[in-house]
Amino acid sequence: AFPQRVKVVEVGPRDGLQNEKGVVPTPVKIRLIDMLSETGLPVIEATSFVSPRWVPQMADHAEVMQGINKLPGVSYPVLTPNLKGFQAAVAAGAKEVSIFGAASELFTKKNINCSIEESLERFSEVMNAARAASIPVRGYVSCVLGCPYEGKISAAKVAEVSKKMYSMGCYEISLGDTIGIGTPGSMKEMLAAVMKEVPVGALAVHCHDTYGQALANILVALQMGVSVVDASVAGLGGCPYAQGASGNVATEDLVYMLNGLGIHTGVDLQKLMDTGTFICNALNRRTNSKVSQAACRL
Ligand code: HMG
Ligand code: MG
Repeated sequence: AFPQRVKVVEVGPRDGLQNEKGVVPTPVKIRLIDMLSETGLPVIEATSFVSPRWVPQMADHAEVMQGINKLPGVSYPVLTPNLKGFQAAVAAGAKEVSIFGAASELFTKKNINCSIEESLERFSEVMNAARAASIPVRGYVSCVLGCPYEGKISAAKVAEVSKKMYSMGCYEISLGDTIGIGTPGSMKEMLAAVMKEVPVGALAVHCHDTYGQALANILVALQMGVSVVDASVAGLGGCPYAQGASGNVATEDLVYMLNGLGIHTGVDLQKLMDTGTFICNALNRRTNSKVSQAACRL
């Protein structure tokens, strides 16, 4: 049975804009987030407090956090890979953060320059500081259905890393198909393994659409009881350390599908599509949302 309601986590301002070739002007980012806030989305990942030498696109993280209009009832989490990032995020007014690990050693090395074991040590420092500050922490696990450097990743490894991050105190574990390579078959197998270690109510899926499988994979996750889904307006996105990975599932397409299933999200699809048009115009590109493309032709 499908969940009655789904929490849609908008990651476009972070996952989307971190992957743009050019640096997007800060006022555009702020306007994007403010427009997203008006759509009814409950969670908008705003930016990341990572090294500006690694990801220059997110170097204006503090200005973004200070410039946005934070609506009551909406949370604006940010990525924090280590204690330094956590402290900078809190100083900029973040009330929620996300740590991000992976089920692949090589991806972890390329993405955050350490081993999985070392990453967990850094995360536990963040967890301790967050606990002391009463800041909720979300945990990402990347490469859950495949890795750009290691290829196949076992469901057992995903379950092991997910369990460790959940046991540390993450309130939610977002399972990332970073390169969008999974299918409903591999999604089902992976989720079955993870659900033995982490309660399904604490799981989210984060599907990139590189191989066009994202909505199908999400549908399987919903059938298995997952009720939190990450998505990116206009299908923006990718990962700078996963070459060729395309954007997340478009939020417009996700909301359209959930509407069709009678699943409540609280998101206004028209306002979301207007937001997609705004950011595509600002970036001078075509939307990756099929629903928006269709609506333009109709
Ligand atoms: P490092 O070089 O190993 O770090 O990078 P370090 O601790 O050795 O420090 C080196 C320098 O970086 C020092 O500065 C530090 O102060 C500075 P220097 O003394 O040379 O001037 N530094 C920082 N500066 C700002 N913010 C920080 C910070 N930490 C250290 N937090 C580090 C390690 C993690 C910092 C680096 O590898 C990094 O920033 N990586 C960014 C990775 C990233 O943002 N990837 C994209 C997001 S993940 C993703 O997209 C996947 C996801 O969407 C899910 C999915 O799809 O699967 C979430
Ligand atoms: Mg991602």
